[in-house]
Amino acid sequence: MINIAVTGAAGRMGSKIIKNILEQDDMNIAAAVETPDTPLEGKDIGEVIGVGNIGVEITPANKLEEVLTKVKPDVLVDFTIANAAVKTIKTASINNVNLVVGTTGFSDEEMTEIKEAITLNKVKAVIAPNMAVGVNVFFKVIKDLAPILSDYDIEIIEAHHKHKRDAPSGTAVKVFEIIAHELEDESKKTCVYGRNGLVGERTAEEIGMHAIRGGDIIGDHTVLFAGDGERLEITHRASSRQAFVNGVMKAVRYIPIAEKGKISDMADVLGLK
Ligand SMILES: NC(=O)c1ccc[n+]([C@@H]2O[C@H](COP(=O)([O-])OP(=O)(O)OC[C@H]3O[C@@H](n4cnc5c(N)ncnc54)[C@H](O)[C@@H]3O)[C@@H](O)[C@H]2O)c1
Repeated sequence: MINIAVTGAAGRMGSKIIKNILEQDDMNIAAAVETPDTPLEGKDIGEVIGVGNIGVEITPANKLEEVLTKVKPDVLVDFTIANAAVKTIKTASINNVNLVVGTTGFSDEEMTEIKEAITLNKVKAVIAPNMAVGVNVFFKVIKDLAPILSDYDIEIIEAHHKHKRDAPSGTAVKVFEIIAHELEDESKKTCVYGRNGLVGERTAEEIGMHAIRGGDIIGDHTVLFAGDGERLEITHRASSRQAFVNGVMKAVRYIPIAEKGKISDMADVLGLK
């Protein structure tokens, strides 16, 4: 049985992940953690997310270490917010708890802190800004296309629901990184966020980045390669959070074979490397 702690347990992703874990024969909810000031402290997480009592009380994040020491989970799954996730990752690493992290919006400094904690404490970790299987195939397609269309103008467009706090999305940032890496020897490396005013003609160095926010859009990503007389658009659309949750289940099951002290991604999990 894989014992799992979930941080962000009452959130959009956390609650869905818990529901899915409850449906798996080989997985068990060991702890459900919410914000330090959560009014849900002590309430049963199953009741809160509408599946009935499951015998797991919500723990506030200031008691994370306490609960990890008590229930000793095999994996902690985190879908929260960047600054909170950094603290959670450090606490889990120090307590020898492996990690599956879907939270996005980490700064470079935060990513360095995260890497240090995972390397020093030799825990296993899968961290990916988008756990959907299709999106990770999309990353591979973009990686293959970028060098072929290196002289085309490249723009990245993403769309998400109105509640999303970070922009551009972690997935769009990853797409930029993939393209910039593939074009390492080329000049196209500058990310230009939106355009406003008299910005002049587009340069060949630019990769445009555009974030749309509205309604209940789960998550769309398009990479546009525009040339003279033609354009190629590659689009991934998530129509349900279930796509991410299915990836989380795969990431959790990958943990036993993951390399210690290294951050694995979904390409490792899905064997796409
Ligand atoms: N990797 C992926 O596939 C993927 C998919 C969807 C969303 N996300 C990312 O996951 C994160 C969460 O998204 P969401 O839509 O579920 O957000 P949400 O706001 O619905 O849920 C976040 C939850 O985290 C809780 N939280 C905040 N600080 C906490 C702390 N210190 N300890 C414990 N819980 C804490 C909040 O109370 C909330 O319930 C975002 O960064 C989002 O971009 C990633």
